[in-house]
Amino acid sequence: MTVSDTSSQLNGNEGDNWETEFDAIVADGLRVEPRDRMPDGYRRTLIRQIAQHAHSEIIGMQPEGNWLTRAPSLRRKAILMAKVQDEAGHGLYLYSAAETLGADRADLTTKLIEGKQKYSSIFNYPTLTYADVGVIGWLVDGAAICNQVPLCRSSYGPYARSMIRVCKEESFHQRQGYELLTTMMSGTDAQRAMVQDSVDRWWWPALMMFGPPDADSPNTEQSMAWGIKRHTNDELRQRFVDMSVPQAAVLGVTFPDPELRWNEERGAYDFGTPDWDEFMDVVRGHGPCNDERIAIRKRAHDSGAWVREAAMAYAAKAHPTEGQL
Ligand SMILES: [Fe+2]
Ligand SMILES: [Fe+2]
Repeated sequence: MTVSDTSSQLNGNEGDNWETEFDAIVADGLRVEPRDRMPDGYRRTLIRQIAQHAHSEIIGMQPEGNWLTRAPSLRRKAILMAKVQDEAGHGLYLYSAAETLGADRADLTTKLIEGKQKYSSIFNYPTLTYADVGVIGWLVDGAAICNQVPLCRSSYGPYARSMIRVCKEESFHQRQGYELLTTMMSGTDAQRAMVQDSVDRWWWPALMMFGPPDADSPNTEQSMAWGIKRHTNDELRQRFVDMSVPQAAVLGVTFPDPELRWNEERGAYDFGTPDWDEFMDVVRGHGPCNDERIAIRKRAHDSGAWVREAAMAYAAKAHPTEGQL
């Protein structure tokens, strides 16, 4: 069942009940598909969220890409290359999902480069040591999994379906990170210190990946009503903390939070408050690496211009009747 109703689409709004049908689809937990009629706000919200997600995958290649040429062994290099390449793939699926809503991929890229659309704040932090590759896999991809698994049930079909494969790959990313860290933790004191230092730097930014507290997240309620989001930011953050604490204990590292402790009554961990001023600063473009990330993305886009031109010229010759692509 979908909200498609050809006759109502042809007849415009007059006398049709597409909105009621749309609401029923969402309420029944079914999927809205690209051909279906949908409220403008739903479409706009999805384009914003999917574009932001796609940009995060693409920009997210940079922090780890920084270590590709300096991976400590051929095995580590092969794993890291596969992981970074996966992120490029995630970005491409997501741009395709945004296109099904009528967004234009070139336009989305321009908006990213001009700072008019955001990407996840986490990718504006620097990767200072090789332990960061492990910690990003464990915590950053781990947080991404917490965020993205519920999106497999998102109300918009193409987005939900793209998340299924993305989540499978994210779980490989998390495991490669954790495996790298267990190797380092069974190494020298210096290696163990390097892992702890990296955990200290990434823990709070990882918690910020779930977005501001629910009280300051104005879009959450509407997104949940539309079935785009399935859990609030705070619910997902709690789930992530509860999942990560036992993993840290097995690894032999601690999180830099004196308020972190098990709460018997709640059956969950209590934890401290992230520095939301820092978060807002990074979101507004003033994080440690914002300028560098965008400059590199722009340079890559500019240096790929000839490839796009050649592809367009080829397409025009191969399919002259289709005119401009
Ligand atoms: Fe990804
Ligand atoms: Fe990933």
